[in-house]
Amino acid sequence: MKKQVLVTREVFDETIEFLARSFDVTSNQANVDFNREAIIERLQGKDAAVITTSDRIDDEFLTRCPGLKAVCSASVGFNHIDLDACTRHGVIATNTPGVLTDSVADMALCLTLATVRRLSEGERMVRAKQWKGSHLKQLLGHDLHHATVGICGFGRIGQAIAKRLRGFDTKLLYTDISRAERKIEDALQATYASKDDLLKQSDIVILILPYTPETHHYIGKAELAKMKVSAVLINMARGGIVDDTELAIALKAGRIWSAGLDVYENEPVVNPALFDLTNVVLTPHIASATEATRRAMTMLAAQNCVAALTGATPPNLLNPDYRKYSKA
Ligand code: DGY
Repeated sequence: MKKQVLVTREVFDETIEFLARSFDVTSNQANVDFNREAIIERLQGKDAAVITTSDRIDDEFLTRCPGLKAVCSASVGFNHIDLDACTRHGVIATNTPGVLTDSVADMALCLTLATVRRLSEGERMVRAKQWKGSHLKQLLGHDLHHATVGICGFGRIGQAIAKRLRGFDTKLLYTDISRAERKIEDALQATYASKDDLLKQSDIVILILPYTPETHHYIGKAELAKMKVSAVLINMARGGIVDDTELAIALKAGRIWSAGLDVYENEPVVNPALFDLTNVVLTPHIASATEATRRAMTMLAAQNCVAALTGATPPNLLNPDYRKYSKA
């Protein structure tokens, strides 16, 4: 009998066709918004799930899906998957790094420019037919060119953002748990700084670090107080890295100048205090959302799934220790 795979969210047809060559596939091409219970119900008797960041995989979930051997997420981030729990249940967990790096870096520049140049405010004004003509002091923004930009998180995506920023003649600072190799710093003209120094010196702070217990509220009241009054904060990483309540307070008080957010604490619920502010640009977690990139992500998740269920090592295995508890 063929192994059984559930694809929890709508994907591209080619991904379903690819999986169907090896498995019996239950898909969700109608894009029904299955909640956790519906997914658990559909996973009974199934061997693997192709999931997204909307699907939280934890101990309780895995206990209730005893046949599950693999969860393959179409995302680079994996904070929605409890890797220790997967390992204890002998379940393989995978993600999709690499294929989305450039698209997310492009979006970081897009959101940064939209925020410093007040793009959404301008568009809202035009659409509301409130634009009475151009004048010299209208919607004055800040420059990205020649700004001091601090990148928090200097992995693949952080470095791809740095590469793009060179074209804007920025002064580039970065911080991370460890310093990048000298040749990388030189190539990107990036200077390592402590988190404190970066927050104090940057005109624009871009967050692109993983969400872990250590990075929960990495930017909170104390950190916002260290930033320049003219500073701009861009969150490309994960909700929870920023304390959205404190951010809204700081934006309202003019403690920092503005923010651009692609991710939120408690997604898809957005802190209502943010809606009342004009100095924040809000996008719906679309950093990797180009057609080519989303196709590549879902196909890579499917390739990980095929490897996981056929005894091969998945290319993006997150928890090699699962073998100690493997059900295979
Ligand atoms: C990721 O891949 O982690 C993104 O946030 C999902 O779009």
